[in-house]
Amino acid sequence: MINLTIDDRTVSVEKNATILQAAEKLNIKIPTLCYNEEMAPIGSCRICVVEAIKGGESLIVSACNTGVEEGMKVYTKSEKAIEARKFAVKILYSENPSVKLIRDLAEEYGVVEDINVRKSECIHCERCVHACRDVVGQNAIVLTTCGLSYGNDAPSLKWDFDKCIACGTCAFVCPTGAVKMHDHDGVRTLLTPESKQDFTLKKCVSCGSYFMPEVQAQYLMKKTELPADKFDQCMNCR
Ligand code: SF4
Ligand code: SF4
Ligand code: FES
Repeated sequence: MINLTIDDRTVSVEKNATILQAAEKLNIKIPTLCYNEEMAPIGSCRICVVEAIKGGESLIVSACNTGVEEGMKVYTKSEKAIEARKFAVKILYSENPSVKLIRDLAEEYGVVEDINVRKSECIHCERCVHACRDVVGQNAIVLTTCGLSYGNDAPSLKWDFDKCIACGTCAFVCPTGAVKMHDHDGVRTLLTPESKQDFTLKKCVSCGSYFMPEVQAQYLMKKTELPADKFDQCMNCR
């Protein structure tokens, strides 16, 4: 028999058992999709991924086709396990958005919105990244890549709103409309493939129209060392 722990609970199973079978013995639920107990595990969907600690090393493995090992520690709901599962769900959903089973999973893991926008509009051309870094000089868009490979190793983007000055250049250069910007009721909204952010707009002290994001005015003030009142009026009233 092999002894291991799953979510800090000890279990003993036959030596040829899988992590999934060991978890079932403890009534710990691990989601599965391609797995069918009547067949040999396929291991294609990756929905069943868990974090396994073996010899001090943390690995992400699929529970349905990974055998148990003596002293192994398995975590089915650790941050790392959930992130990996979420990624598997995202990939599945991006390829099969109309399949109810997949859609339900995507909703459960909160990835519906991400995929809808990214898949439909962002083509990973990186124009926005370069424009923000080289033209605006803010470097507020970070290029990230995912660790797991599903034959889709396209980079993904992350907006750093601590650096962003809401200038809208990324929206302007985006060829597909994956980044959108619109001003409404004293607020500028930036919609990116992965997020949405509102910025307060400055009101012109003369005509009362909104003309520039507060954060951009502060940025320009700092850069030009001009007094604050130089940024109180819109272009038309100056
Ligand atoms: S709106 Fe923000 S992220 Fe976009 S180009 Fe301007 S500073 Fe960069
Ligand atoms: S958001 Fe637009 S500009 Fe940026 S990588 Fe995607 S398609 Fe290109
Ligand atoms: S259930 Fe599909 S990889 Fe395990």
